[in-house]
Amino acid sequence: MSGARRPTHMRTITTVAEMTTARDAAAGTVGLVPTMGLLHEGHLSLVRRARAGCDTVTVSIFVNPTQFGPGEDLDRYPRDEKRDLALLRDEGTNLVFMPPPEEIYPPDFDDWVEVGGPIAERLEGEHRPGHFRGVATVVARLFRIVRPDRAYFGEKDAQQLRVISRLTADLGLPVEVIGLPIVREPDGLAMSSRNAYLSTDERSRALSLSRALAEAEQSVREGERDASRIRAAARRTLDAAGVGVDYVSVADEKTLAELETIDRPALLLLAARVGATRLIDNTLLRLPRIARSP
Ligand code: PAF
Repeated sequence: MSGARRPTHMRTITTVAEMTTARDAAAGTVGLVPTMGLLHEGHLSLVRRARAGCDTVTVSIFVNPTQFGPGEDLDRYPRDEKRDLALLRDEGTNLVFMPPPEEIYPPDFDDWVEVGGPIAERLEGEHRPGHFRGVATVVARLFRIVRPDRAYFGEKDAQQLRVISRLTADLGLPVEVIGLPIVREPDGLAMSSRNAYLSTDERSRALSLSRALAEAEQSVREGERDASRIRAAARRTLDAAGVGVDYVSVADEKTLAELETIDRPALLLLAARVGATRLIDNTLLRLPRIARSP
């Protein structure tokens, strides 16, 4: 199939029944990009990859209430449907699934998907109880409704990506889960719909997250292997910018188990509050390749 962008007739669907029929009629492979809207370049990079790899591109826009905890930003989560649809049309999206909550969660809905182990229980799982239960449930529901061959997620939500890969494998869902790199603003800030909340001052303090990651990458390049020193340095950078740290973690890239020594590919994961806005970011700390003797 060709990845060239071509003009498409984009169809907007709001009911599960209509989505099921559209899926049955879809030609070839179907790619799904699940989103909560207020699309940015990070989302569009996923849509482009889906466009390049699949015959029919479906994007879901659904602000999933069950993944927000009490006191979180569900009520004020930023939305701009008109802009999102214009962007998706420009990217050659075929189907946009924008269900109201009662389509995904009918009144008698009571089946939940819960992923266990450090992959889901630490970090976001600990700081946002119930969050991954909501994510896993909605993603399983979307996979069931859209029946994609491939689904695309951003590495910014590194733990979410691992939770979704695990649930897909454990439930034997016939979907290839594809993770794509974080897209950053030119100054390093990871793109996020929640960046829309930041004031000018907060936005400049939010740069401490990507700065802490870059500093850690540099230390590992220079030979640092002690994870506690990497965590402490990242905390200092965040503290100096006056952002509230939820966690700084150096974890095994695959299992997300915390590491004491960086002796394998590790993720440095950060969650911090800049004013009232909670941001996450991460980077892969790669060990320099050791040159082999001839
Ligand atoms: O990453 C997101 O935007 C959401 O968590 C997702 C995967 C669309 C599920 O609601």
